[in-house]
Amino acid sequence: MARRLFIAGNWKMNLGPAQAAGLALELKAALASNTALDVAVAPVAVSIPAVVAKLKHSGLHVAGQDLHAEASGAFTGAVPGEHLREAGCTYVIVGHSERRQLFGDDDALVAKKVKAAFRAGLLPILCVGETLSQRQAGQLEAVLDQQLSVAMGGLAADQAAAVTLAYEPVWAIGTGHNATPEQAQEAHAYIRGWLRGHFPAFVADQLRIQYGGSVKASNAGALLTQPDVDGALVGGASLKAADFLGIIEAGLAARRASRS
Ligand code: 13P
Repeated sequence: MARRLFIAGNWKMNLGPAQAAGLALELKAALASNTALDVAVAPVAVSIPAVVAKLKHSGLHVAGQDLHAEASGAFTGAVPGEHLREAGCTYVIVGHSERRQLFGDDDALVAKKVKAAFRAGLLPILCVGETLSQRQAGQLEAVLDQQLSVAMGGLAADQAAAVTLAYEPVWAIGTGHNATPEQAQEAHAYIRGWLRGHFPAFVADQLRIQYGGSVKASNAGALLTQPDVDGALVGGASLKAADFLGIIEAGLAARRASRS
């Protein structure tokens, strides 16, 4: 079953409102006639309104980078999904490895945040992936099992199908060492198999799995033509229009070539 390509840019803690708006405008201009794929960008929270304003009627989506599990209350500094939705986001990244490693988001909290995203009317982009030491210890599948079962276990099938999963091996993030296309496909196929074992078949058929970790124009084609790689979650190379657009063009071109 054909799943529509979904490429998202995670701008992480970069680009304040003015710079973010500038990049959004460049992407909007370049992707004005795009109908071939879904594109989202995830600015820092304070830059979201400026980006939403620039991307109006563009078909490009805006995502939060994180959300609090509660809808409101005494949680100084936190941003709830309801506010992201009101500000114009349609997606929210949940469980990014930087949240897990630097901010203490554990599987139980990630599960709450996935539910909070749906409560707020947002679609979660749920990140999973192993560290280098876990991979070297042969724990890839066990780590994915644990992360998926806690974060997705309580979801109804229609919600599960609406999740985007991002397989982001921690050792590939920001290192320049992307997973090989074969390593990505192997992990993605494992994830899809896990979905088949835990949900009705349509969930595994529909759910899109992005690969993330040192994606750039030069490796995007080979990654995005793997049968179970449905998109990319791009960090560093999403911060410049030319780099991000290069990934999109390389991915589309390689997919066209692989089908002809
Ligand atoms: P890089 O593309 O910079 O490796 O980051 C990947 C990532 O963490 C996207 O969420």
